[in-house]
Parts: sequence; structure tokens; C-alpha cells
Amino acid sequence: MTATAPTRPVLPPDIRARKGAAPLVVLTAYTTPVARLVDPHCDVVLVGDSLGMVLHGLPSTVGVTMEMMCLHGRAVTRGLTRALAVVDMPFGSYEESPEAAFRNAVRLMAETGAPAVKLEGGRTMAETIAYLTARGVPVMAHVGLTPQSVNMFGGYRVIGRGAEAEAVVADARAVAEAGAFAVVLEKIPATLAGRITADVPIPTIGIGAGVDCDGQVLVVDDMLGLFTEFRPKFVKRYATLGQTASDAIAAYAAEVRARQFPGPEHSFAEDAPTKGAAP
Ligand code: KIV
Repeated sequence: MTATAPTRPVLPPDIRARKGAAPLVVLTAYTTPVARLVDPHCDVVLVGDSLGMVLHGLPSTVGVTMEMMCLHGRAVTRGLTRALAVVDMPFGSYEESPEAAFRNAVRLMAETGAPAVKLEGGRTMAETIAYLTARGVPVMAHVGLTPQSVNMFGGYRVIGRGAEAEAVVADARAVAEAGAFAVVLEKIPATLAGRITADVPIPTIGIGAGVDCDGQVLVVDDMLGLFTEFRPKFVKRYATLGQTASDAIAAYAAEVRARQFPGPEHSFAEDAPTKGAAP
């Protein structure tokens, strides 16, 4: 979808119907101002649990809570008029049982206004995805590298090389059969992602999964150069806003120390301005 597309809000069936069509554009957002920036350009805006690392300084997404997702989810939906908001279910909020997943998904949807949730896992989560989708909760799935399981993987390595490939294919098939409306493929070989994209009937959204997916997602702070602690190979920096901000802050500090800021144009005179003059 482009900026010239109809302005009706995008819903999960619209995304599902985009299988094999023009590439889906997805970015994360965590705040209202960034949601307003990405809304005209994106089909889906993901309130990713990556917010734990890029906004809250956590070492991984494992410590992200329901409260954090509700707070940021609300902020993002306030800034969207068109793109579909999808809120990540945080670690521990859906794995225990389909019933627990349903309760937490409904809370996320009700408190944020987002029409869909995302959860990590393939075959092991298929029963939960079927339970949620049968009860009115649209689910975006996420297979390959699933960052909430970083402690099981032992790091953020490529998943699906060699003999591991068939397991990723089986995971993608399982979530599609369970009713997911789209699936994120993270950090898997590009050829495997192409094979899965040709195989499953739902759109694949790649991150570190090559060009053959039905869409692409990036963490907005990564692609804007705002999060610079580390840069995965799959991130392309389209801007260096972190450096721009750092330069601006240094200039402000220097001007304050040199008594160059505030200037007369930022200061108030004793007398009220006359009509027509600057306030
Ligand atoms: O949390 C997140 O931002 C994500 C994307 C990287 C897909 O899950």
C-alpha cells in the first residue's frame, strides 16, 4: 500500500489478502510521534517488544511486561490513522496455556485499541494460535529466530541452516494452518525464506530473511540510527539521527556554557509587546 491508497484503516484480512502482491511495508513504533511519522508509509506498525532493548535499556526482550506493552501500544494507536497496529505479546504472557494467552491478548487489544497481536513460536504455539483466532483475536506469528528464546538459542544466531531448515518450514506451515494472518521470518537464510514464502498461503514478513518475502520489517530505531549499541547485519541505516541528536546536544551545552543561549530572540522584555510585534 502507498501514500495514495485509500485512507480506511488497514485490518488483518487486508494484510492476509496481500499474499504475493506488492511488498508489505512494516516498521516498529513505540510512541505517538513516531507512529505519526510511519503511519503514511507503512501497511503495519508493530509495537514490538524490542522496545525493552531500544527504549528501556534491557539486555533482551525477556524482561518486557504486559504493562509496558499496554502503555506503548496505547501511545502508538493514538498516532495511527491508517496502518494496522499489531502489539507484541511479551514473554510469559501466552506460553502457559491457550486460555492465559486469550486473556492477555484481549487485555492488550482492549487497553491499546490494536486490532491484532503477535506472538513468537511455530508448532509449539499452533494450538494457541488456533484458540485465539477462533475467538476473534487476529494473530501475526513469528518463527525462525525468536528473540524471547535467546537464552535457549544461546545468542542471536541464524536459524535454519542445514538440517534445521525443515523445522522452520514446519513451523511456518503450522502457524499458517492454525489461522495466523501473517508470519514474521527472522534471521533465516534467504533461500529458505523464499521457499517458505512460496509454500505458505499467508504473507511472510522478513527481517534478516532476504528479499523474497512478501514484506519487510525493521526496528525503527535501528533504521534511523537512533539505537547504536549494536547493529545486526540485516539492518540498513537510512539515517544517523543518533549522531545528529548528539551534535545538537553538544552545541546546546557549548552555547549555554558560553552564555550564547538564550539570545534576545528567546528572552522576554520587561514591557508587554505592542500589538503586531513578536510576543
Ligand atoms: O520486537 C520486535 O520489534 C520484533 C520485530 C523485530 C519483528 O519482533
